[in-house]
Amino acid sequence: MNLAVTSEMMSGFGSHFETEAMAGALPKGRNSPQRPAHGLYAEQLSGTAFTAPRSENRRSWLYRMRPSAEHPPYRAYDGAKLFAPGTVETPIPPNRLRWDPLTLPDAPTDFVDGLVTMMANRDPASFEGVAVHIYRANRDMADRYFFDADGEVLLIPQQGRLDLRTELGRMEIGPGEVALIPRGVRFCVLLPDGTARGYVAENHGSLFRLPDLGPIGANGLANPRDFLTPPAAYEDRDGKCELIQKYLGALWVTELGHSPLDVVAWHGNLAPCTYDLSRFNTLGTVSYDHPDPSIFTVLTSPSDVPGRANADFVIFPPRWMVAEDTFRPPWFHRNVMSECMGLIHGDYDAKAEGFAPGGMSLHNLMAGHGPDVESWKKASAAELKPHKIEGTMAFMVESCWPYRPTQFALEHAQPDYDSAWGGFPKAKLP
Ligand code: FE2
Repeated sequence: MNLAVTSEMMSGFGSHFETEAMAGALPKGRNSPQRPAHGLYAEQLSGTAFTAPRSENRRSWLYRMRPSAEHPPYRAYDGAKLFAPGTVETPIPPNRLRWDPLTLPDAPTDFVDGLVTMMANRDPASFEGVAVHIYRANRDMADRYFFDADGEVLLIPQQGRLDLRTELGRMEIGPGEVALIPRGVRFCVLLPDGTARGYVAENHGSLFRLPDLGPIGANGLANPRDFLTPPAAYEDRDGKCELIQKYLGALWVTELGHSPLDVVAWHGNLAPCTYDLSRFNTLGTVSYDHPDPSIFTVLTSPSDVPGRANADFVIFPPRWMVAEDTFRPPWFHRNVMSECMGLIHGDYDAKAEGFAPGGMSLHNLMAGHGPDVESWKKASAAELKPHKIEGTMAFMVESCWPYRPTQFALEHAQPDYDSAWGGFPKAKLP
């Protein structure tokens, strides 16, 4: 438990925290006193149903300067033309798709307006599925705030740092780090480096959690203590502000006369957090073959079918390769799960070219894929001495639901991706 007026981040994934930005603001021993300190308003933010089992239950109590219920009606938001436009409903070609990095916008564009939805599956209203977006921004969000009623958002910077000011506190992340912001939490994004680009995995399903470790044991992969949650921080600021929300796949806006980041204290286990991907305890073979890439899962959102993820966030970090008599890069495969990949920096070991940092690829249900010809040739001829893959960080958002690309994504895919798998020599039978 943490209780402090402090700038220290608080450690632990899904832990129960308590924090106050002003001494005495947090009620002691109860959630909803008759008169909270300083005239604050008590408000519960639920991330799971009230009646979810205790081990699953996520909620926080917020003590704020005004109730979040106080706002005029929302109206349709007509900015951010490429954010949440819906996906293609006509038959989706089963082709493998890949995209070059999207360029930064020419005109001044903030985080929300620069979001581009690339693909999504299921319907947010069904509490299933995941959407993957790319953000490109060159301007701070000024007097503008956003929240996502459709799911939690995992921000994955590729270029430029993000200063994330949320209802529950302030966090800064850069490339190689990620931030997870719960459904409904208001935030704004400032750009300490002036520009930023990266990915957003928007999870409509069950909340991301750490995967079970089975025979791995009590430690390993992403360790809970490396997830950091900010202490309470608030903006006491009057003046016109826009509040934009994503709701059932569309964007809506209302106006407030103050900053919505007016939470002075909070406690609970539903809160934003950051994670430094370099803290991942990467495991792999020390004999032969390599395990399925699920060994690289950072966070998982289970579906109702045991072992079948609504969404897995998986990374391919620097690691030693020591397997004997083994084709070491990812093998050829066809997967019942659908795979969206991105690259934060460096090269991905299964693709010699065409997959650039900031780019993206999609291998949907049953699409044959694996190393390209160059990577296959190199790995087949390599001397199998211990070798460290360094200077790279790729990731995957894998889902049991096939992704539907947006019209924009279909129109901007690389035209020749299939050629990555052209020209393999035929096996020589005796
Ligand atoms: Fe794959």
